[in-house]
Amino acid sequence: MFVPHMNLREHLLKASLEEELRRIIHHIAGSAKYIAASMGESNRKLTGTRNLSGDEQLEMDVLANQILVERLKRDTSFGINEFVSEELDRVQRLNTNSGVYSIAVDPLDGSSLADVNLAIGTIVAVYKGPILQGKSGRKNLVAALSILYGPLTTLIYSAGRGSHEFVLNPTGDYILSTDNIRMNNKGNIYSPGGLKKDWPSDHRRFIDALEQMGHKLRYSGGFVGDMNQILMKKGGIFTYPALTGSPQGKLRLLFELQPMAFLVEQTGGKATNGFQDILDIVPRDIDQRNPIYIGSRMEVDMAGDYLN
Ligand code: F6P
Repeated sequence: MFVPHMNLREHLLKASLEEELRRIIHHIAGSAKYIAASMGESNRKLTGTRNLSGDEQLEMDVLANQILVERLKRDTSFGINEFVSEELDRVQRLNTNSGVYSIAVDPLDGSSLADVNLAIGTIVAVYKGPILQGKSGRKNLVAALSILYGPLTTLIYSAGRGSHEFVLNPTGDYILSTDNIRMNNKGNIYSPGGLKKDWPSDHRRFIDALEQMGHKLRYSGGFVGDMNQILMKKGGIFTYPALTGSPQGKLRLLFELQPMAFLVEQTGGKATNGFQDILDIVPRDIDQRNPIYIGSRMEVDMAGDYLN
């Protein structure tokens, strides 16, 4: 159902979430506005440093991380239990006011696209209790957000009651654009990550089969943008498989895969590593990676059939 002009705050209130969780989601959405506003020609440059995953950092990466951390440290009366960012190398406590919820963020995913002005994004996972507590994402995650900085800034959030899209308007309000996004059983696009020469043969056969079925190639190199396309077109598949030399693929469980899997499952879609649901995996360390098959059910199940 489309509700005209409902903003994020009203939507969160209507969803009757716990106040603390509601305030965290609203707070992160607020930080994303500052991240969007801070993007400029001057900070597209490399800093000369690398993050935990070995990616070269841009000034923008560092700035986006700072905005999230500083605002969470300063402006929260709700308190955060633990905080971890793709740009940092350890789980942190941000304030003495220790709350119930913990946060994992990828402040600027796909930032290597900043210099060519393609869409990049922020991914956020919210946990009840500590982040690495020996529980699967399904048991531990309570909310996720994916914010896309494209021609428009859009935000998709889920707190376990559907996934919903909002557009940031010029006066700084997030306005509901799609309530309860529903993925079809099958789509017609595919986003295949990784070098083709390093793909396992089963994966290659799966991609060939998709092409035979008429799926169109749509790959930008930015996970948030590529997933946004699949979510808003209501179908298709994104893959980043096991590769020769990197059997766990490239994308990270805490910062990219589990929050996105949470959002996608809430639309009726599916996310696996080819064998197991992404949300059933227990994260054991911050930098843990996994192969990913995520999108509409038919394609993700089909990948499973090829890989098994
Ligand atoms: O993990 C960062 C990231 O930029 C993702 O946003 C994206 O899906 C992937 O890496 C792209 O990787 P590659 O450059 O190998 O295609």
